[in-house]
Amino acid sequence: MAFPKSVEVVEVGPRDGLQNEAVALPTAVKVALIERLAEAGCPVVEAGAFVSPKWVPQMADTAEVLAALKKKPGVRYPVLVPNEKGLERALAAGVEEIAVFAAASESFSQRNINCSIAESLERFRPVAAAAKAQGLRLRGYVSCVLGCPYEGEVPTAKVAEVAGGLTDLGCDEISLGDTIGVGTPQRAQDMLTQVAAAVPMERLAVHFHDTYGQALANILACLELGVATVDSAVAGLGGCPYAKGASGNVASEDVVYMLNGLGIESGIDLDRLAAAGAFICEALGRPSSSKVALALAGQAA
Ligand code: HMG
Ligand code: MG
Repeated sequence: MAFPKSVEVVEVGPRDGLQNEAVALPTAVKVALIERLAEAGCPVVEAGAFVSPKWVPQMADTAEVLAALKKKPGVRYPVLVPNEKGLERALAAGVEEIAVFAAASESFSQRNINCSIAESLERFRPVAAAAKAQGLRLRGYVSCVLGCPYEGEVPTAKVAEVAGGLTDLGCDEISLGDTIGVGTPQRAQDMLTQVAAAVPMERLAVHFHDTYGQALANILACLELGVATVDSAVAGLGGCPYAKGASGNVASEDVVYMLNGLGIESGIDLDRLAAAGAFICEALGRPSSSKVALALAGQAA
């Protein structure tokens, strides 16, 4: 076992979490959540998405969120961008990092972004080139790396091919998404090993949804292989509008508690993170999906 000394936790709750919540939150609440996460020490907070508001109305106010946000120096605030129109909107909002998103399954690609995998990579090509020319940092997501809600099994060779394709376009980092949370540790390790033959491990991130309760185990298995970037959402918010039945991302509180126990640094203050989680759960009128948050709240009571 060779765990990394430190792990960069990419907080995706304000985007991956809130994009799937039925409650329409006021912009000010989103801003307050992002600011609390940054104050808790999160080094990266995904702040929204410049996607079509017809497809994902929850992210329609991302420009307003960014305009109101008091940015903490040193913290990165990436946003999702699906096409050139999204990039224009992102640049107008002054973002410094964007993420394009592809899938390893054709059916998911069609449902999520209305085009084939090959078409999506061609669509991202000018986006990536323009982003790089403007000095932006570029992340690429691959969805359905351990299974697809429409097709079932997804060949790992396809995951590696799409990850390699995104890297060739100029992505600095590739996040591997188990969109529907069906993976188990051995399969996660096998997938990561095969992808790492195409894209160096230090440029890979893992993004687990916790639908089947396997996310923490999968993360641990991937840390063993040396991955050092982990996506998570405060309070386990989230799901995916185009992956029915997918529950939220692994909870950030649970990830940080595990990292603390392993002696792996994240720079995140667990109590302040849990307070940010409590804040957003109250705003949404739903309980936290984080076991650690529930335990900490129980202790405090
Ligand atoms: P389309 O309908 O094929 O696009 O959607 P279009 O180019 O034909 O445009 C249709 C309309 O949308 C036009 O408006 C465009 O102007 C507008 P109209 O003329 O009808 O009034 N439009 C836009 N408006 C604002 N911003 C834009 C934009 N682009 C077009 N950027 C499109 C194609 C990609 C736009 C659409 O399918 C879309 O926005 N999809 C996004 C879906 C999404 O956000 N999914 C969730 C994020 S992915 C995810 O959660 C997975 C991840 O977490 C990893 C994992 O877990 O696996 C990342
Ligand atoms: Mg996701």
